[in-house]
Amino acid sequence: MRRKLVVGNWKMFGRLARNQALLEGVAAGVRDLRNTDCAVCVPYPYLAQAQALLQGSNVAWGAQNMSHHEEGAYTGEVAAGMLVEFGCKYVILGHSERRGLYHESDETVAMKFDAALKAGLQPILCVGETLAEREAGITEEIVARQLDEVVNRAGVKALEKAVVAYEPVWAIGTGKTASPDQAQAVHAFIRQRVAKLDGQVAQGLCILYGGSVKAANAAELFSMADIDGGLIGGASLVAEDFVAICRAGK
Ligand code: PGA
Repeated sequence: MRRKLVVGNWKMFGRLARNQALLEGVAAGVRDLRNTDCAVCVPYPYLAQAQALLQGSNVAWGAQNMSHHEEGAYTGEVAAGMLVEFGCKYVILGHSERRGLYHESDETVAMKFDAALKAGLQPILCVGETLAEREAGITEEIVARQLDEVVNRAGVKALEKAVVAYEPVWAIGTGKTASPDQAQAVHAFIRQRVAKLDGQVAQGLCILYGGSVKAANAAELFSMADIDGGLIGGASLVAEDFVAICRAGK
């Protein structure tokens, strides 16, 4: 049995005072939780705060993006080694907002994935189709392309130290969740695609679902065979909602 993982993606939300209440509330709410790993991915300026408040708790922390460069003259960018210094365990890569709004290509995402692994971070690789792509019947083609670029560059074994998050773009922040069957079908597709290269890696791979996960629908989604937890946006900003989702995995 794979362990469940629930990761909060705060996106560009947060202020010091609010964060403190949220982080303390989450840490307290999952203190006794044993069957699920929990983490929050916060904006860069709050990594030190997350580190200070979550150290020694059941909640890990991470970032939402990073540069693929190790260091250098890249104004405004943040390197993997910097995230490591602030105790990050995870980094979200290739989120649809990065791909869509900031034009990150599959290749860029794959380079970031490589750099994250080299620095000792666990990348959370986001994949997922837009509504137009789903309606055109090319969901699997899109997800395969996004996944393959990373696997071709880093090798299938790299997935042993990574997480994949399936996030249909049409379900992110829209309140329109993929049905458990719709999500399960794509999760199974991802696992089978990895299994063609390495059955053992596929079996152990943690595949999260993201897109309007709420306390009310988390348990049903997480009960599906190939759904190993969630990547949570909006609901990760409310301590009791996020805690309820963390506790929804059996
Ligand atoms: P949502 O966001 O839960 O608000 O839909 C998920 C995400 O973007 O990771």
